[in-house]
This record gives sequence, C-alpha cells and structure tokens, in this order.
Amino acid sequence: MSDNQLAAAVDKRRTFAIISHPDAGKTTITEQLLLFGGVVREAGTVKARKSGNFAKSDWMEIEQKRGISVTSSVMQFDYQGKRINILDTPGHEDFSEDTYRTLMAVDSAVMVIDSAKGIEPQTKKLFQICKMRGIPIFTFMNKLDRDGREPLDLIAELEDVLGIEGYPMNWPIGMGKELKGLYDRYHHRVALYRKDAEGRQYLPLNDDGDLAVASDLADDGLYTEARDSMEMIEEAGNPFDADKIASGDQTPVFFGSALANFGVQTFLETYLEYAPKPAEHKTADGDREIQPTDPEFSGFVFKIQANMNPNHRDRIAFVRICSGEFDRGMDVIQERTGKKLRLSNVTEFMADTRENVETAVAGDIIGLYDTGNFQIGDAIYTGKPAVKFEKLPQFTPELFVRVSAKNVMKQKSFHKGINQLVQEGAVQLYTAYTTGDYILGAVGQLQFEVFQFRMQNEYNSEVIMEPMGKKTARWINPDQLDERMSSSRNLLVKDSQGNPLFLFENRFAERWFQDKYPDVELTAKL
Ligand code: G4P
Repeated sequence: MSDNQLAAAVDKRRTFAIISHPDAGKTTITEQLLLFGGVVREAGTVKARKSGNFAKSDWMEIEQKRGISVTSSVMQFDYQGKRINILDTPGHEDFSEDTYRTLMAVDSAVMVIDSAKGIEPQTKKLFQICKMRGIPIFTFMNKLDRDGREPLDLIAELEDVLGIEGYPMNWPIGMGKELKGLYDRYHHRVALYRKDAEGRQYLPLNDDGDLAVASDLADDGLYTEARDSMEMIEEAGNPFDADKIASGDQTPVFFGSALANFGVQTFLETYLEYAPKPAEHKTADGDREIQPTDPEFSGFVFKIQANMNPNHRDRIAFVRICSGEFDRGMDVIQERTGKKLRLSNVTEFMADTRENVETAVAGDIIGLYDTGNFQIGDAIYTGKPAVKFEKLPQFTPELFVRVSAKNVMKQKSFHKGINQLVQEGAVQLYTAYTTGDYILGAVGQLQFEVFQFRMQNEYNSEVIMEPMGKKTARWINPDQLDERMSSSRNLLVKDSQGNPLFLFENRFAERWFQDKYPDVELTAKL
C-alpha cells in the first residue's frame, strides 16, 4: 500500500463501542447497524448469537454457556464509504476489566439509554472511562415506542449525572402508542413514525422551523408541543459545538427506537459525519505521537480472550492497530520482550464476506492466536525506534474472593498460574497484610470463573475460591499507614506492586474511617 492509499484507508475507519446498561437495547441497535451494513441479512442473528442458539463451535465451556463468541467481539462493515468497527462491551455477568479496556481501543463511543430508565449504573461506569479519555460520545435515547420519561428530563440528566452537555439533534413527537415522529432540527425535517396518507416518510421544514408541506400533523398537539420544546431549547439550550463534541464535553442526542428501526439510520449517518477517524497515540515517554498514517506498523493488546478451544489452550490477543498496515505473515517486534514474532495466525472478524481482512490498517482490530506470548498492554511494532505506548489504566475492582490451592502439594503450579494470569491482566491479586492470604479482585464475576477454569485447565491447579462479596477498594499513602487502622470492616491488603490499600465493607465503613482519620488520604483508581 502506498502512503496515499494508507492515508485514504485510515481516513475511512470509524472505530467505536456501544456503552449501555444491560437491556437498554445495545444488541438490538447493533443488529440494525449490521443490517444497514449488509453484514446480516435478517434481524435476529446477533440476538440468537447472544442467547447462544447460534453456530456453536468448540468454544470453552464458559463461553458456550454464555454464548459469547469471539466473532461478536468485533464487528466490521462498510457504510457510505466508511469502514466501521464496532467493538463489543459485554454486559451482565460478562462485565469485566476487558469491558473497560475495550474502551481504550476505540476512537468514539455510542451511549444507548433506555428512555424509560435514564442513566443506569453500568452506563455511568463506562461513561467515566470515555470521559477520562476525552473521546466523543454520541447518545441514542432508545425505546421511544414505549412510554418513557420526559425528553427534557433525560437531557438534563446527562448534565446532572454525567456532567456532559446534551445537544438534542431531534425531538420526539409523542411517545409510546402516541409516537408520531421526530422533529429533526439537524436535518430540518420531520421523520414520521409511520408513513402518512401520501406515503411520505419525511416532511421538510421551512426556514422558520414550521412544516413546509401541508399535513394533518401541523394541527396535532403533540407536534406543536415538540416544536415548542425545540424552539425553547434553540433559545435557552447549549449551542451546537463541534469542538466540544470532539473533546467529549458535549454529546449529540438522538431519540428513536431500535426495535422499530426508527431513527437509527439517521443516527448512523449523522454519527458518521462527526465520528472521528483513528487518532494518534502517545508513547510512554510522551515525546512521540504515533500517527495512524505512519507507514510503520504498531498496535497494542487490549484484551485477551482465553481458551477458545480447551484442546489447544489457545487464546486470542486483540490488537488495536495504531499505525500503518497489517499484512498476514508480517514480522513484528514485541516491545516488552524485544522478541520478533511472525503474525501469521490471525482471526478475521465478522466482515463483509466479499472482502476478507487480509490487510488491516490503523483503526482496525486484529485477533492474534496466542499461545501465551502476549500480555494486556503489550505493544507490537515494525521499524525503528521501538514503540512503547502509555500504560493501560487499572480499574478499581469491586468483587473479591479469597483464593487458595485445593491440593497443598501443588503450590508450585498454583503460584505459577496465579502469577501468569495476574500479569496477563485476567484478575488482580492482593495479599492480606497480616495473614498473607491471596485475594483476587475483579470488576465482574466472570473474571473469577475464567480464572478458576484456566487454573485448572492450563496449570492443572484446582483452586478454592471463597467469595468475600463487594468491597470498596481505596489506596492509602504508605507514609500515613498505621496497621492498627485495620479492622474487621476494612481489610488491609497489598496490591501486586506492594502498595497498601483498604478493602472497605461498604461506603459507610469508608466514611466512618474518614471521620476517624480525617487527615488520611484515600484514593480510588479508575
Ligand atoms: P442489551 O443488548 O442492551 O442488553 O439489550 P437488547 O438489545 O437485548 O434489548 C433488551 C430488550 O429491550 C429486548 O427485549 C429488546 O427487544 C427490547 N428493546 C430494544 N430496543 C427496543 C425499542 O426500541 N423498543 C422496545 N419496545 N423494546 C426494545 P426482550 O423482551 O428482553 O428480548 P426479546 O424477547 O425481544 O428478545
């Protein structure tokens, strides 16, 4: 590929994740997007995949049980000249640190909110990561075909709860059974929920924002209400600000219904107007920015999915390409070890079958079959000088278990397994200050199950895990630490770098501690 071809290919890439709380409609909207992209031919494919009824191959048992498959981790399609990569962020019990880390590999995010529920906990958590990265966020208020909350309320909540300005691109005309359409100020038209008597789907607006064609809708109270709300927002609301959108300080808000496929296409097309192409990536020392159009290849591992096939013990390392072009069979250097690796065994993600992803460029994701060479955060590159990216952040775990080897005679494999899996980023390891007990921390239950399964299958080490439940982890400055501060409600432990932290029973215990030791500084990670 010439430099110009590479630049053109990178320019086309749009890589994003959908963040939402379970049941808000992420799967349904993803499916609609894939339909527009021509990847799936009928609705229900992704859904079936999610529930596990679809093309079961020999994934590991846990994955089979839960219906997770690697192909749904990255979905790629072309639309209006753009190549779109959607990265899945699993919800429910599958929620894990990988879910957070996936957000390190995208250039923008789509936030799907159930308009009856507003912002829910998981959305909030995922949002924080996007906010920290300063990436653009586009909001889809879903389920308009059902009665939901007041649109104004939903917009205000974005600012109150998330601290991001909402800019409504359109406004619902009625909702639930009374849904008539969307007053689309951005495209200067009304999108009708059902075609009108003349078979029209869109009604144009004139310069004053009134309907430019004769329609019964003009006399409908719901229409006038929507129009008035839009007018009010036009005057009193936040002005549209492309810079703020780019920095993640303002989010364009679209209303619609994923299930009824209403407002989704408009959303996609407008999203593509504003969604950023692949961004540059900073190196660890901060003195270089790797440009996506740099002809030398570079990328980093943001997720490792284990044991696709228990007989082969292989896993897949997901790599976000940051610069250049990937070619099957190319040699790269792994920064951490300095080893040369040949990238020949690579998975193809759900792409348009007409065009295989033999080559991928910056912005794309490739899945490398891995036999244990890779760790989360590893950089791979070609050329000189070496490329080392900024460290991926660690996330504050919320769930904890005490872990020990079932068979005391097998301490060696137990320790080897734990150390490798912790290094790989599968779970986080802590040691209790006084007893030396091993404690694992995770953001989702699945991480423990995968850990247990892999310990058994890869290291032949059966482990006992005693659930400790939810805890609030707070790091303390070692200089301020006094071991007597520890009590039954705040377990004192060390993280894998030896930093001390307390695991508080709950927020109440943390407040109690702070009241007792007002000068002690406690910090959370992300
Ligand atoms: P998720 O991936 O975010 O967890 O949500 P998913 O798309 O699976 O949607 C959760 C439920 O909400 C599904 O119903 C889905 O049909 C429904 N849903 C999604 N979008 C809309 C919408 O725009 N309007 C309405 N009314 N419902 C919507 P379910 O009953 O849980 O699943 P299913 O039985 O339909 O498969």
